[in-house]
Amino acid sequence: MTRNEPLFIAFSTQKGGAGKSVFTTLAASFLHYQRGYNILVIDCDEGQYSLHRMRERDMEIVESDPILERKFGEQIVVTNKPAYTILCSPPNQAITLARSFIEQGDHKIDIVLFDLPGTVNSRGVMQCVSELDYIFTPITSDKIVLESSLAFALAVRDLLINSDSSQLKGLYLYWNMVDARERTALYDTYDEIINDLGLSLLHTHIPDTKRYRKEMTKGSRDVFRSTLFPCSRRMLKGSRFDELIDEILQIIKL
Ligand SMILES: Nc1ncnc2c1ncn2[C@@H]1O[C@H](COP(=O)(O)OP(=O)(O)O)[C@@H](O)[C@H]1O
Ligand SMILES: [Mg+2]
Repeated sequence: MTRNEPLFIAFSTQKGGAGKSVFTTLAASFLHYQRGYNILVIDCDEGQYSLHRMRERDMEIVESDPILERKFGEQIVVTNKPAYTILCSPPNQAITLARSFIEQGDHKIDIVLFDLPGTVNSRGVMQCVSELDYIFTPITSDKIVLESSLAFALAVRDLLINSDSSQLKGLYLYWNMVDARERTALYDTYDEIINDLGLSLLHTHIPDTKRYRKEMTKGSRDVFRSTLFPCSRRMLKGSRFDELIDEILQIIKL
């Protein structure tokens, strides 16, 4: 962790429901609480601010559950830092807000994760995207979702990657909600198309499993999705989220 400049990263695509917010939370919590990086999250999904609201729910749950409360207190002692901050901002002001928080903060920030809304037509999304370092795009085998995600990836690549007016170093697609019953031949065909388009694809296939849908609740002892805890080792097993994070860390070279 010798970097001085924080990296700006987003799980982004123009399709809603692809997993952007879920992976933003999982990555933020895993890297902040488990791997020792200092994370800042900017929730840019105006009108929903789903991560900010999830943090409020998580706080209420922890405060009302003595076991979770003690676990959270111990985590602060062990990691020697509080929970990461989640700020809300419309996309067109998100970069400015991140920069001023970083300058004023007492904690050095290693990575800023931006949770962008599911439409590039929303104010300032492309402007924000142009100032990111890396984008990771969840794709699913649903034909309509896939077509729209590939269009997004191609537009970002053609407009921004290797352009002087942009910071963006790479966009990487990865398969999400992979149904074990689906023929691998289907994915092979799509992989070939993605390859022919010159887009980058991660190796990890994230399965469609219930744990990605479930938030922490009162009485939870094994946490997967939470803004206050990393996913537990037991829940990590079979989620393939650790494979995804390892691939991402190799790319961003942290
Ligand atoms: N791998 C997965 N398996 C099962 N459900 C998933 C998976 N990834 C995402 N989901 C579910 O899909 C829904 C949409 O995810 P979300 O992150 O809110 O999408 P977005 O932010 O892209 O609109 C959520 O209910 C989430 O739990
Ligand atoms: Mg979202």
